[in-house]
Amino acid sequence: MTTVRDLMSTPPLVCGTDVSLADAALKMRDAESGSIIVVEDNKAIGILTERDLLHSAAARHNPSDERVGLWMTAHPDTLGPEEEVGAAWASLSSHHYRHLPVVDDGILVGVVSIRDLMAIASLRPADEAAHDVPRGLEGVVVSETTVGDVRGLEGFFHYRQYSAVELAERRSLEDVWFLLFNGALPDSEQSTRFNGEIAPQRVLPPGLLSLLPALASQGSPLDVLRTGVSLLGAELGFGATTDIDAPTLKRQATRLCAVVPTILTSAYRIRSGLEPLPPRDDLSSAANYLWMLTGEEPSVAHARALERYLMLTIDHGFNSSTFTARVITSTGADLAAAVCGAIGALSGPLHGGAPSRALDMLDAIGTPDRADAWIRDAIGRGERIMGFGHRVYKTDDPRSVFLRGVARSLGGPLVDFSCDVERTVVEALAELKPGHQLYANVEFFAGVVMDACGIPRQMFTPTFASSRVIGWATHVMEQAADNRLIRPTARYVGPPPPQPVPVAS
Ligand code: ACO
Repeated sequence: MTTVRDLMSTPPLVCGTDVSLADAALKMRDAESGSIIVVEDNKAIGILTERDLLHSAAARHNPSDERVGLWMTAHPDTLGPEEEVGAAWASLSSHHYRHLPVVDDGILVGVVSIRDLMAIASLRPADEAAHDVPRGLEGVVVSETTVGDVRGLEGFFHYRQYSAVELAERRSLEDVWFLLFNGALPDSEQSTRFNGEIAPQRVLPPGLLSLLPALASQGSPLDVLRTGVSLLGAELGFGATTDIDAPTLKRQATRLCAVVPTILTSAYRIRSGLEPLPPRDDLSSAANYLWMLTGEEPSVAHARALERYLMLTIDHGFNSSTFTARVITSTGADLAAAVCGAIGALSGPLHGGAPSRALDMLDAIGTPDRADAWIRDAIGRGERIMGFGHRVYKTDDPRSVFLRGVARSLGGPLVDFSCDVERTVVEALAELKPGHQLYANVEFFAGVVMDACGIPRQMFTPTFASSRVIGWATHVMEQAADNRLIRPTARYVGPPPPQPVPVAS
């Protein structure tokens, strides 16, 4: 193990606080050092770097009149001589330091610089100098966004500057869509214009329409969507995000988001031996979705319940599918490519594939009195309880709380049963998985609400995709507007290379 002691420069270059900047600069020049450690009784009380000298020069101070004590960084971070060099690198690079004093038992013994670390680059593969991050990128900030955020400890999430739950209570899906795409809620005139703009765009383009029966005979509605979005991008000529301007990308995004529900409901109907139904532009997005799915005009209560679910699931921070969409966009690929990748990520049971499994679990439990034993058995077998736990929420998921209320307003035996099971699961998880703070996530009551609205189980994850596509598209636009290729690195832990390559026999 290489330690800080192995590579630090010693003795360190030092001066006192009363030395002039001119004299300190002279010492640094003679020693070819980018910094000087400021000491008092052999203790490092500050550090003066080339950057400080530049600042004082820029402020037009006379270096002979200025004292080091005024310009140094006081109480600098330090390293211990026995620390592993990885720690030195992490400290230097994460704080953008170029030099760090090395202190042993309070006494200054050396200094480590970026240059010292470069000296060992030949001993260690360059990538070992990269930052290590937690598995699954938990808690790692990878980008900046103005789309929205999730505050896991508070149980709060927002779209732009508004609470997502309040938006779901007070506004329409189309208004929230407008908010995401444009950064502000629409006034009533803008709202009417936007509704008029999106309604006709729900219609399938002819090429995709003609291929849909073949696709739907082969795969589930979500499979059809993944392939259908790819075909849609080709048919409508979506270009690389690096080659098109922002208004063009927004037009493509609007068309894509408007047509996704039609692809899904048509695929479902064809697969069920029914004729697909053309969209109705006299209905809201949510009511039209239920119409295209069932062929019946929904009740106001069902249309509003679904709309609320859809609004709550439009966006949710840097979840896996959104991150996937942004990674793909960062390569300059087109909107369809980004959304195809996002659909793939969403389909997994650890992400969007959970709600039908949560309902399957309720079926398997059967009656409230069997819930506790069933759950303990499942956890004993190392299984996960679908619809519970979340990477970010360490308290109630606000979407789950809100959807529980929506489910209750619809009523029915499944709603009462699911509330009973929720309580039992939370208690069992608290006992069997202590310290993990596992509560119902959005998926648990999503299935209950969708079931109450007459949506079949195989359409649960597709229905989730029909709203999340608005969030993906917003993130694609944001990424494209200020892009840098997302390309992290991995630590190689396989057999040490280079091994001689055996000649093929
Ligand atoms: N049931 C049982 N145990 C669980 C559950 C669960 N649902 N969720 C987490 N745990 C336990 C894990 O077993 C682990 O315990 P251990 O340390 O004893 O092994 C501990 O809690 C931590 O789990 P991680 O896997 O580290 O947590 P992570 O943040 O990676 O997981 C996830 C988040 C994937 C959502 C997880 O809670 C899970 O698998 N839930 C079930 C699937 C689900 O509901 N997915 C939908 C998520 S919401 C959405 O994406 C829209």
